[in-house]
Amino acid sequence: MESRFSIRTFGCQMNVHDTEKVANLLHHAGMQAATDEAEADLLVINTCSIREKAEHRLYSDLGALRSWKEAGEGRLIGVGGCVAQQEGDAMLRRFPQVDFVFGTHNLRHVPALIEDARAGRRRSDTTESRSLERFELPERHPGLSQTTPGRAYLTVMEGCDMFCSFCIVPRTRGREISRPAAAILDEARRLVDQGVREITLLGQTVNAYGRHDVRRGQAAQAGTMPFHELLAHLDAIPGLRRLRYTSPHPIFVDEGLVRAHGQLESLCPHVHLPAQSGSDPVLEQMRRRYTADELRTIAGDLRDARPDLVLTTDLIVGFPGERHADFEETLRLVRDVGFVDSYSFKYSARPETRAASLTDTVPPEVAQERLEELQALQRELTIAYHRRRVGEDVEVLLEGTSRRGDQLSGRDPQHRIVNFSGETPSDWAPGDFVWAHVAEATPHSLIGEALPSADLLAIASNH
Ligand code: 5AD
Ligand code: SF4
Repeated sequence: MESRFSIRTFGCQMNVHDTEKVANLLHHAGMQAATDEAEADLLVINTCSIREKAEHRLYSDLGALRSWKEAGEGRLIGVGGCVAQQEGDAMLRRFPQVDFVFGTHNLRHVPALIEDARAGRRRSDTTESRSLERFELPERHPGLSQTTPGRAYLTVMEGCDMFCSFCIVPRTRGREISRPAAAILDEARRLVDQGVREITLLGQTVNAYGRHDVRRGQAAQAGTMPFHELLAHLDAIPGLRRLRYTSPHPIFVDEGLVRAHGQLESLCPHVHLPAQSGSDPVLEQMRRRYTADELRTIAGDLRDARPDLVLTTDLIVGFPGERHADFEETLRLVRDVGFVDSYSFKYSARPETRAASLTDTVPPEVAQERLEELQALQRELTIAYHRRRVGEDVEVLLEGTSRRGDQLSGRDPQHRIVNFSGETPSDWAPGDFVWAHVAEATPHSLIGEALPSADLLAIASNH
């Protein structure tokens, strides 16, 4: 019988992309994707440990999966991602239903781990590696289904050396390592040849790309370069219409990157810039290495370079020692910068982080109140921005249908969701660019009408 796999993915875009990489490896190993878990004989869980809740979810899922495993002979469960990296062998001891464990640097070993598990050898492989080998993955298998046609992720660097005091990532993803630019450009060209029109560069601190090599004067030997130069090379690839990157660290937004936003045509007018807090003492305790005013300046510089640029952010409330006045500084920063969207979280103490030993904790109900107040402010700012866009004609990369299924849906250059209806040529498919006129704003999306071909001609002649 042919083996079929299914993968559950939690967490960030890195994990989403790691899942694509594992799926590709499994295809190359002769396996196929199952349509659902009921018909799979291998279930892989790609885990996240950024906050306690994500980790707990894994443990309850694993409990529930005991019956999945018993329902079919030879069924295997593999656990990867950040929790796997953290726990290693302990996962195998604690959960007899788990057959193999792989760390964030060991995706390439998954087929071998499966083989061993089938032979009754339960293993965990979470060795950390400082070599570039982990980036050497096989070409995209033709059987691999694309998450979104026309769009792809591309890893440029991995790991994090920043050690923000709240964050577990430097422990689960290891030290910063940047791929040679030639390998990145090769992969980008291949993606474009396969029909990809929008590439999102990935890295835990993506704009720290190449920085260690550049600082040591070793960029030429390592084949790396400053991040903005990498962007310029990518921008020059014919057929690549949209270039994005996530997530940058504010302190590495330098002059070159700001200028790139004003100059590179394919570079999208959206930057997800994690602020975390607007209070200087909290930022210092977080070890973020910038002040709120420095962040305001960075935001201003980016906007000056590209006036239609949208900024979104990540914020944490209830960090130890956060007083009400600190929280108000966060609200002030969000208002001043005019973040169009944000992901906001209650602080969650993570093992072996510096912040975990801080004693001045904020009561959970206070953190909850702050979260709600922050999210209410964000909703106002999001809808106000969406309203400002009403009346515009926007270029949309088509993804599929809207959540309710009654409209087409995609993203504009600012990464806002655009749902639209109207006369649409029947041969449009996900991955195509289409134009829509924005007629309405909701808190979650722009609502529009597809532009008839006559208007499209007018747009084309103006460009
Ligand atoms: N508690 C709460 N939020 C966290 N994040 C990272 N670590 C923690 C933590 N311990 C948030 C940050 C980061 C995003 C990916 O997750 O805002 O930018
Ligand atoms: Fe975590 Fe800070 Fe590194 Fe981001 S920069 S991954 S928040 S340690």
